[in-house]
Amino acid sequence: MLKKFSVPRGTADILPSSISYWQGVEQKARQILETYRFMEIRTPIFEETALFTRSLGQTSDVVQKQMLTLSSQKEDSFSLRPEGTASIARAYIENDIDKKQKLAKFYYIGPMFRGERPQKGRLRQFHHIGVEAIGVSQPLLDAEIISLSVRLLSEFGIKGFKLKINSLGSLEDKKNLSILLRDDLKKNLSALCEDCQNRFERNVFRILDCKNENCKKVVHGLHIKDSHLSEESRKYFENVREALDLLKISYEVNPLLVRGLDYYTHTVFELSHESLGSQDALGAGGRYDHLMEELGGPNVGAVGFALGVERILLAKPGTESPVESSLDVFVVTRGEEAVKKAFVLLNTIRSHSIMADMSYEPDSSFKSQMRLADKLKSKYVLLLGEDELKENVVTVKDMKSGEQQKVSFEKIGEVIKNKICSHPEVN
Ligand code: HAM
Repeated sequence: MLKKFSVPRGTADILPSSISYWQGVEQKARQILETYRFMEIRTPIFEETALFTRSLGQTSDVVQKQMLTLSSQKEDSFSLRPEGTASIARAYIENDIDKKQKLAKFYYIGPMFRGERPQKGRLRQFHHIGVEAIGVSQPLLDAEIISLSVRLLSEFGIKGFKLKINSLGSLEDKKNLSILLRDDLKKNLSALCEDCQNRFERNVFRILDCKNENCKKVVHGLHIKDSHLSEESRKYFENVREALDLLKISYEVNPLLVRGLDYYTHTVFELSHESLGSQDALGAGGRYDHLMEELGGPNVGAVGFALGVERILLAKPGTESPVESSLDVFVVTRGEEAVKKAFVLLNTIRSHSIMADMSYEPDSSFKSQMRLADKLKSKYVLLLGEDELKENVVTVKDMKSGEQQKVSFEKIGEVIKNKICSHPEVN
């Protein structure tokens, strides 16, 4: 027996039966993003590994444990993109976009790859809807980006999600925060898991996201507030919150929200939904004012977020039974000659932007073809038998009313087009 192949672990086929949900979410997102002047950008799905190492941080979990590096490259190392921000920063710098526009607003929709242990809501190939606004560091922009993420989730029909925000402050403030955290954690170091004991020196922020029960208890008892923030950073964060209040966005300030990627400074945020269990983040983002410079680009600030499409679909009610699509026209034939004629006919009908199909099988019975037309919810059936061939006509059957009419080959495209346009909702 030949081996049957399965979809790789942590990935999924998106079959036509569920594609309408994906397209619905994507279309809605594009519509909304364009009203904020975000322009779509598409970057390659792999980049030099060093781009991600430098952007996300050598000690981040994504770089340490989840990067999918391509092995066939002899000289340079390339990795599948684990996220979009680094690639977009690279494209922004490489294309000198700062010289063309002060504030560049990009959005992207596409697959990302992380070599994680798969579980519900955690995949190795998943999809982001993301935005990056590069060139301006203003609290109003942070608030707008946060409110946009909330707006998107609401428009997707998701209810009951929570927004958590925090400020890491400037690079200097972030350093202070890590000192404060180490001071606070020191006394309970032995209670932490082995991973977190290593993280204590390497990347103390990661301890805050550890899922180990003992670590969670230690983290729960921490006394971190906002004492790491300078006066200027505190003011900035206050302004972000004020702007969110102006837009009536509800949020919770969580001083333990630090995010897993190193590039963040100042505002960070996360949107979560209880129904998702342990992988409860629907999306997340924040400000990253030093990434462009870190990558050899101009000294400009940026802010953005990414939403996980698979998790959106998990949290979205009513995604179990897909909307069934219907066909405009199905051509039913009898005999070999009629199939050939139908083949040409389909070509004509489709050129009028009408959705049409047939069975392609000359031996298929009239009855089974009619059954197929029914199953595909065809609005009209075109019958092509011996009589029609002799008379050089097609019998058009309206599947709702049962009415039939003979139409010449030359006119059929026009006639069907008129019928569809004047009764778009037939069936
Ligand atoms: P992130 O938090 O790593 O941020 O990912 C954003 C969202 O992607 C998560 O909240 C989650 O919904 C989804 N996600 C992440 N990993 C997986 C996975 N393995 N399986 C399924 N869904 C997943 C970023 O990637 C940043 N680039 C966001 C950003 C943009 N920050 C500024 N600009």
